[in-house]
Amino acid sequence: MKIAVVAQDSQYPNNIQRFLTEADKPYPFIAMIGGVHQVVAVAEQEQPDLLMLEGQHFNPMELQILHGVTSRFPDLGVVMLCPAQSPERLIEVMRAGVREVLQTPLTRNVVIEAVERFQQRITLARMPVNQCKVLAFIPCKGGSGATFLATNIAYALAALENKRVALFDFNLQFGDASLFVHDSPPTTSIADVARQIQRLDGSFLASSMLQVLPNFGVLAAPEEPEKAAEIKPEHINPLFEVATRHYDFVVLDVGRGLDAISIQALDRADLVFPVMQQTLPSIRDAKRMSNAFSALNYPDDKLRFVVNRYKKNADITLADMENTLNLKIFKVIPNDHTVVTASVNQGIPAIKLDRRSPVAKSLQEIAHELSRGAGQGGMLRKFFTF
Ligand SMILES: Nc1ncnc2c1ncn2[C@@H]1O[C@H](COP(=O)(O)OP(=O)(O)OP(=O)(O)O)[C@@H](O)[C@H]1O
Ligand SMILES: [Mg+2]
Repeated sequence: MKIAVVAQDSQYPNNIQRFLTEADKPYPFIAMIGGVHQVVAVAEQEQPDLLMLEGQHFNPMELQILHGVTSRFPDLGVVMLCPAQSPERLIEVMRAGVREVLQTPLTRNVVIEAVERFQQRITLARMPVNQCKVLAFIPCKGGSGATFLATNIAYALAALENKRVALFDFNLQFGDASLFVHDSPPTTSIADVARQIQRLDGSFLASSMLQVLPNFGVLAAPEEPEKAAEIKPEHINPLFEVATRHYDFVVLDVGRGLDAISIQALDRADLVFPVMQQTLPSIRDAKRMSNAFSALNYPDDKLRFVVNRYKKNADITLADMENTLNLKIFKVIPNDHTVVTASVNQGIPAIKLDRRSPVAKSLQEIAHELSRGAGQGGMLRKFFTF
């Protein structure tokens, strides 16, 4: 990403460049002393991706010039740097094509967050669009590892397969998915989206998610369990309509208790991954879940049973499980206490923490298969053709 700063006072470009260097973002950088009239030349000659323009009161002629530039270069992100403005003035500059206004004096956080937002928009805009696939992970028994698998496979699809991925935490009361892949708590949640569902679009959804990678965001569950009641079944369809238009994969971490909301989410899934372990109670619950899915008329090939914390020498074998359940096990994920516990405790995805560990390798393998299956003409295309 190339950044240009046009300002009357050299302290603006100097400070911004220093903030970027300190944040380890050595983007190509152009500084120009001047105002709106210089913007035309900078846009034409330097073709920046992001242009930061300092200015307070643009006259109608200047607004017209700005409008001309933003119309000719629609991919250019123009950010205005100015002291607090009246709403009327802000509307004027937004109409001229300014995408964001950063209030001066600038702080490091404000500048870096704005740059990251634009970086994310550019990354998303440049990635090819595939038909979106919705993958749902659900534990057959509490603590089976559904959240670990949903978050880590979502991360692998984004980090290794270069897909645009959104993860929705549908454990609405006690969801913890974001903490599996990020070390700081989310500031917005699915409840904020539900509250303003009528203004939901791609950018609103992206800005409501905790951004783990430029192409991977997590829409967290509400921090306070009582806020779960704000999410209603009628919010689910609009959420999926927008998400499936903007992402290659929407991954769902669904709680075990089936209710109107989770069933609606599972209905939207192309593939459902019930997660189980090699214990009798887990197999019993897997059987009950499989019956529930039959009652919901889900075809067998929508279901991909996964055995997590797999141990080769356990008393219950895979064949035992397949016979009892009368269905095939899709994949096994090895038991790896050291890596998984460290990953979960630190909020660092397992493939980032220890890419060569057996658990990371099996996560990569699943992500790779899913991504090939979703692509045009992939060997596992059959996977998704139902
Ligand atoms: N493959 C694995 N190897 C070792 N430990 C694992 C593995 N997978 C998950 N765990 C451990 O199991 C714990 C529970 O996992 P997780 O929270 O993903 O389960 P869940 O099915 O989402 O449970 P819940 O019902 O609470 O939503 C994790 O904190 C992790 O420590
Ligand atoms: Mg969970």
